[in-house]
Parts: sequence; structure tokens; C-alpha cells
Amino acid sequence: MILSDFWSLSAALLICPLYMGVSVLCEVFCKEENVGVEGGHYTLTKKLEYGSMLIYHCPEEYYPYPALTRLCQKSGTWSPTPHIRIVQKCKMVECPNPLVLESGSVFPSQTQYFVNNKTTYECYSGYTLRGSSSRVCQPNGKWSGGTPICRQDSGGGERCADPGIPAGASRFGSSFGIDDKVMYHCDKGLHLLGSKERVCQENGQWTGTEPKCYYKHTYDTALEITEAFGSAIRESLQLAAPIGDTDQEGKRITVDKAGKLNIYIAMDISDSIVEDQFNKARNAVKKLITKVSSFAVSPNYEILFFASDVVEVVNIIHFSGENRKKLEQVLDDLDNFNYGERENVGTNLNLAFKTILERMAIQKQRNETLFKELHHVLIFFTDGAFNMGGRPEDTVAKIREMVYMNKKEERDQYLDIYVFGVGSDIFDEDIQPLVTKRDNENHYFKLKDGTELEETFDKIIDESKVVGLCGLHRNYDHDTADTIRVRYPWMARIGIPHEDGSFGKCMGSLVTPRFILTAAHCFKFTDTADKIKITIGKNQVLTGSRVILHPNYNIKAKENEGIKEFYDYDVALIELKKDVDISIDTRPICIPCTKETSGALRLVGEEITCKQQEELLLKNPIEEVSFMSHDKERDSNKDQRSDAKLKLQDQRENCIELATQIDGITSDNLKDVVTENFLCSGGRQPTRDHVSCKGDSGGALFKNYDDYRTIQRIWYVQLSSQPQTMCNQASPGPTHLASSPAGSSETSHPDSR
Ligand SMILES: *[C@@H]1O[C@H](CO)[C@@H](O)[C@H](O)[C@H]1NC(C)=O
Ligand SMILES: *[C@@H]1O[C@H](CO)[C@@H](O)[C@H](O)[C@H]1NC(C)=O
Repeated sequence: MILSDFWSLSAALLICPLYMGVSVLCEVFCKEENVGVEGGHYTLTKKLEYGSMLIYHCPEEYYPYPALTRLCQKSGTWSPTPHIRIVQKCKMVECPNPLVLESGSVFPSQTQYFVNNKTTYECYSGYTLRGSSSRVCQPNGKWSGGTPICRQDSGGGERCADPGIPAGASRFGSSFGIDDKVMYHCDKGLHLLGSKERVCQENGQWTGTEPKCYYKHTYDTALEITEAFGSAIRESLQLAAPIGDTDQEGKRITVDKAGKLNIYIAMDISDSIVEDQFNKARNAVKKLITKVSSFAVSPNYEILFFASDVVEVVNIIHFSGENRKKLEQVLDDLDNFNYGERENVGTNLNLAFKTILERMAIQKQRNETLFKELHHVLIFFTDGAFNMGGRPEDTVAKIREMVYMNKKEERDQYLDIYVFGVGSDIFDEDIQPLVTKRDNENHYFKLKDGTELEETFDKIIDESKVVGLCGLHRNYDHDTADTIRVRYPWMARIGIPHEDGSFGKCMGSLVTPRFILTAAHCFKFTDTADKIKITIGKNQVLTGSRVILHPNYNIKAKENEGIKEFYDYDVALIELKKDVDISIDTRPICIPCTKETSGALRLVGEEITCKQQEELLLKNPIEEVSFMSHDKERDSNKDQRSDAKLKLQDQRENCIELATQIDGITSDNLKDVVTENFLCSGGRQPTRDHVSCKGDSGGALFKNYDDYRTIQRIWYVQLSSQPQTMCNQASPGPTHLASSPAGSSETSHPDSR
């Protein structure tokens, strides 16, 4: 054995006491005998060294039995020890016993139910079925649909309705009057999630949540988690916003200067969580933080990784005072953590909770008044398999005490503890006591391999349900009519019948549910607002009620100076007769100098100025932007995205020069025609730009602002159209694109006028 090999192996070597007090080094590797799995395979996290985890893998719809994982012990043996008689194999996923329906019958009656087995439910006469009349056993070990319950037609005269019996459970207690109690128990091999005990309340509702019986191999689907966790986190975000500050829909979404929401994220990095699972959890956390930021609430974050020790990646104390930590830094800190660098074997879940408790204590001591206003959301990612530091329950109790301040009822909403079960073998029973229990809310989620976590968090902010946010969109890389709509949900087509019988076509963008922003030159003085048709989203056709041209817009303002058409301030708003319905394919764009946009840019907690926004968005001499244009060669109703490069700073002068190719523009009057308000793009350097043409007028010139490309931030309005000649020329000339008058003064959102 060469020396370097020797040292690298030494971690797995132990001092073996021998007879007569003599000790020698001896190897204690685990062995691969008897650990094989029928119908599947296994992987090892650290070969056969001490601390290595053996993870069994089975095909879809199967699960490893009897063990899910084995851990290599110091003694060189596996825990759990492989059985000699019970062969380790992949078993077909089973669903819990559905034959628990009271006052009804279940077909077919079997001793076991496997994936894709279907059951149907019928009630005896005098009873009506609630819940699902037919259910299918799913690959995640759960029945589809909801628990079937046969409720007495007469209602039984009791205060609460029959709460039913979930598959795999038995219930004790069958009177449902006020203060009556029902208790649940799961069959052998299953454990109970949700409420073991429920009490009928005066309001006719049962306390707690419906109990569920889970096997070790049962897990929650991405959809279930998205719905439950998504609505809960949205609630927290809205609770954290100060009351009285409402957006146009009356929802409490706002910029919160002080940051009244604390989010503590703790991730298990012990050996039972393999690198791949860790990376998935980390990406999911990044996604969550990014998504949360689009709410324009600026939470304070504590992010820690824990194994036998705690690594504090982001300290919540750095969010107080003048130099609040920025979201980008938080994401960087997360990225900079290297999974390979940790040297941990144990799992000290308690220490993670203790660290959070300490951070809370510091904040409370610093300013108790402020602490009382803070909402605390704890999000843990763990398999619950702690093996050192003691049980975390006591620490969790202390955290509750600290937040509730002896007013549990009143202050219950100020604390939420969520646990996402990740890992190959999740200890549900140990996790249960730690999470928040609140009627009809779920705070514990169990994931299969953590694979779906990122996707889940991506969907947490369901775009169709969040109304007040500008610029949100979805990105799909294939083009169908549907994907285009969700990618550019603000895009509006405007049809304007003029009095002389001609018909004008323009584009515009939705800026609030009531207003469309477009170009002023689209309109003629004799146009009537209620003849204007606006098409947006999935065939929403709306009519205008009013057209508001920018007060400084005057195409003939410089006629005396020989400038035939002057396009400065070429902006107009169309007020719609009624609000559009906001949905995934119909949603406002972000426009500069608004509070919403500052939220989108995460300029939260700071004075909002147009200048700050501009500095963020137009910081380079050449900035890529896009606009929508009609595809003239093909279907005129199909829109396509065109890209252009804005020439800014020292590049602007040369770009503007190109405008002299246009009829009527000379180097003498150039600066008068193309004012400071115009942004310039076009030409062939560094690449040949697309030009916008007739019919594209009024559309948005937009820019993505988001590393994750999940949220689109849209900017700048194309104010002037290209003279028609340019479109017909083979060689693309300059395209004049103007911003809404730039400057550092604050302008208000169209709605607030
Ligand atoms: C239930 O599923 C098992 C396994 O796929 C299958 O063998 C059995 O025939 C199914 N039973 C019914 C009634 O469909
Ligand atoms: C404590 O917080 C409250 C509420 O946010 C604030 O009004 C007060 O000025 C703070 N006190 C100190 C000493 O910072």
C-alpha cells in the first residue's frame, strides 16, 4: 500500500483492541454480501466506508422492501442488518385499505390494492355519497380523489358532518355534536399524518386537518404541494404587507420597507442526503426566494445548512439596519456553498432549531416592538433522521413561546413551521411534532427523491391567481398560439376604424387591468373610443371608453422648422370599458418609474426613483431589447418576437446619425427631430437589427429582467413608428425607439391619476 492510499483510507480504519493490550490497525469496511435487491439496484454514497449510505432504487410503481436504505456503521456492519430470510426486493406500490366506508359498499373487495387498481363506492339508501365515487391507486401510494363519505340524508341532527374514515384508518367516536371527539388510528405498517384527534366545534367545523395514512413509500405529488404550500406562503406574504396599502385589486401586496417577514431556511446536508438531493433542494430554495421577491415584499432571510454542525450561509442579523443584504448576494452565498467541503457524519436537527431560536432572541432583544410585528416562517428540508444533539421538540416549543408571547390564539399566524421531507428514507413520525398544526392547513410535505421540488416551487406563485404583479410570464421554448400568449401576456392588438372608412392597426400593452398603453399617432382626431377593438389573451375582445393622448404630443409641433412629423411624446392610453380578466395569458407589463416595477427589480426598501431603475436596466452602451412585430410574409395575425440592440451612452450619437437617411431629416435638424427622449436602435453594428414597421406601432419594447427567466420585466414603449419606406428597403435602416420621457422625476402609475 502506498502512503497516500493509506492515509485516504485511514478514515475507515479503526483501532482494534487485541489480546494482551496490544492494538493494531484493522480495516472495517462494510460488505456487499446479502444487500442486493431483486428487481432493482442500489447506489453507495461513499463506497463501503463508514458513514456510506446504501440507497435502493426501484422502477416506477415499485418500492424497495423491507429497507429503503442502509447505513454503514463504524463496526463495518449495515444498519438495518440485511435479513437472511426476508429477501430485499422491489415490491409493487400498494394503496391503503379502502374497505373502511361506513353505510356503504366498496367494489371490488380485495386483500391488497396495487397501482392502477380501481375501486368504486356506493352508499346504502338514505345516505348520500360525498367525495369520490371511484378512485384509482396512484404510483405515489395514495388513492386519487377525496375520501368517500356516506352522509345520512336527514343530517342526523348533529352539529358537524360525518368526517369520514380515510383509507387505511379506523375511527373511534361516532357522534358528531358540539365538543364530540373522534380519534383515528392507522393500520399496521402505516403511520398517521394530519390530526389524530378532531373535535366538533360550535361553528360546525372539525378542528385540525383530515388524517391520512402513509406508508414509508407514500409521497406527495408536486401538484399537492404546490396547492397547499403555495396558498400558505402567499398568505404569509400578504399578511406581511402593511395594511391599508393596497394595489388596484385591493390586494395587500406592497413594498415593505422594514421587512416584516422573516424566512428561516434550514437544509439537511448530512450523509443521508446525497449530493444530488442537496443540489435539487438548493435550486428549489433559490427558486422560492426569487419567486417570493416578485411579491414586492422584502423578507429577511436566515439560511443554514446543518449536519453534525450548523453552517450559517445567510445570517438574518445582516438584514437589519442600513446595509440590508440584497437578494443577489443571498443567491450568491447559496451558490458558493460547496457540498463536497462538508465534513459531517451526524445530523443535529436540534442545533438548527437552536440557531434559529438564538437569532430570534437577538432580534427580540434589539427591538421588541419590531419583533412583535414580525412574521416568522421556518422552512426545513430534512429526512428527520437526527442522531445527535437531542430531540428538537423542546427547542421548537421555545420558538413557539418566543413568538406567541403567551397569546397563542392571537399570535398564531405569526409563526409557521414547514418541513419538506427529502431523502431516501424519511422519518415522518419524528417530523410530525415539529410542524405547525392549524385547521385545514398542511405544513408537512413528503417528496419523492426531491426531484420535483424545483418544479414545485416554480409553480408556487400561480400566475393566474396573483393579480397585482406586472411582467410575470411563462417561458416555453416551443411556439404555439398558446405558448406565445403566456409568454407575452400583456400584448394587445388594437383595431381602429377611422371616420374616413380606413382601418388602423396598432399594437399596445396592458399596463393595468383597465389601461392599454400605445402610440398616440395611431389615432386621428375624429376617432371614437368605443369603436376601438382591443384583442388580448385568449380572444378577450374589449372596447375602449376613452383615449388619452400625451399632453405634449403634437406631430406638427415643429412644422415651422421644416420638420413635417414630430414624434416626441408619442404615447397614448386607452381606457377600457371594463377591466380585463387577469389570467395566465392576460397580465400587465411592468412600465418604468412605477412602484410595481421597483418591486420587480427588487429595488425594495429604497426610495424609488426612475433613475435607479434606468441604471439597472440600461447600464451598458449596448442593451438587447425585443419587440413584437407582425409576420407579414405569413399569417398577418401571427406575431413574432424581434430583437434589437439599443445604442446608449457613447454609442447613441452614431446611431442617431443614421436617421439622416430618412426623408426630411438632415444633420441640421437631427437633434430637433430625435430628442433626448428617444432611444436609438438599428443599423448593422454589432449585428443587423430588425426594424419595426407599420402595424407594429405602439407595441412594447421590452427587456427581460430576471436571471431565472421566470419573471419577465417589460420596459419602454415604442413611441414612434418607422417611416414606411424603411420597411420596404432591403437594407435595414435605423429604427427609432423612444422611451417614455426619461428623467429622474417620479411619474405615477396610469391608474393613480
Ligand atoms: C390489481 O393490480 C394487480 C397488479 O397490477 C393486478 O394483477 C390485478 O389484476 C389488479 N386487480 C384488479 C381487480 O384490477
Ligand atoms: C423599533 O421598532 C419600531 C417599529 O418598527 C420602530 O418604530 C422603532 O423606532 C424601533 N426602535 C428602535 C430603538 O430602533
